[in-house]
Amino acid sequence: MSYQSLLYEKRDGIGYVTINRPEKLNALNDQVMADLEACFESIAEDGEVKAVILTGSGEKAFVAGADIGVLATQTPVEGKERSIRGQRILDFIENLGKPVIAAVNGYALGGGCELACACTLRVAAENARFGQPEVKLGIIPGYAGTQRLPRLVGKGRAMELILAGEPITAQEAHRIGLANQVVPQRDLIAACEAVARKIMANGPAAVKLVMQAVNRGGEMTQEQGEFLEATLFGLCCATADMKEGTRAFLEKRPAKFAGK
Ligand code: COA
Repeated sequence: MSYQSLLYEKRDGIGYVTINRPEKLNALNDQVMADLEACFESIAEDGEVKAVILTGSGEKAFVAGADIGVLATQTPVEGKERSIRGQRILDFIENLGKPVIAAVNGYALGGGCELACACTLRVAAENARFGQPEVKLGIIPGYAGTQRLPRLVGKGRAMELILAGEPITAQEAHRIGLANQVVPQRDLIAACEAVARKIMANGPAAVKLVMQAVNRGGEMTQEQGEFLEATLFGLCCATADMKEGTRAFLEKRPAKFAGK
């Protein structure tokens, strides 16, 4: 599969998605969004891909935001439709059923920060900068930044990031829980691969169900979330992965999961 504004390849069970508009710091225009949607839909269907690493082309930016040239001319109706479409695509990435690791290799601003937040985990290069500068342009985040960021880092920190619009360093993002780890830029993809491989070594059915429990449970009361967890826990008990994982432990050997 090839895309106009993305590079895609898969190696050893990992899908590598690279947003490829380096001359515009990988800003998200309609073409990038359409390519992201098509690419993640095909990854969802591809049983060979167990995890995804999402990054931006070049050494300067993950994604420097939605394309401001496009934002500048949109009508209210177009703005609302673009926002709903972007939210839908990021929701799809968040609920892909496979871990998506954002390799944040530079600026993750506006829609770029929102895209990183929709990923399962974020690994930041030392030069990464996270921010929601929309208010400086007279707009608000439109790809669920006002919803996902407070859930990730807490309301007060999210309010400050979104209201002041000032970017923060990779270290600060790590301190507040926005970045899972910070590594030198040259080690970024290897660090993402190491995390992906750790997850991929575990029971795939359980990995998928954990993400459902956390993502869906986070939208429920604790009591409802616990009921969902118990139901998914019960579902795990019906899987071949559970039988293999528990038997392998008792037989003191590594598990060989079939993902069923
Ligand atoms: N939309 C459209 N184009 C963008 C962009 C965006 N969000 N971010 C960067 N670009 C373009 C620049 O216009 C420039 O294009 P040009 O060479 O045709 O003029 C190119 O990418 C390089 O950016 P430049 O500003 O020259 O790089 P820099 O290193 O001086 O600054 C940033 C980097 C990220 C600080 C700066 O580009 C910036 O502030 N971008 C906008 C960030 C933003 O507000 N994002 C939220 C949008 S809702």
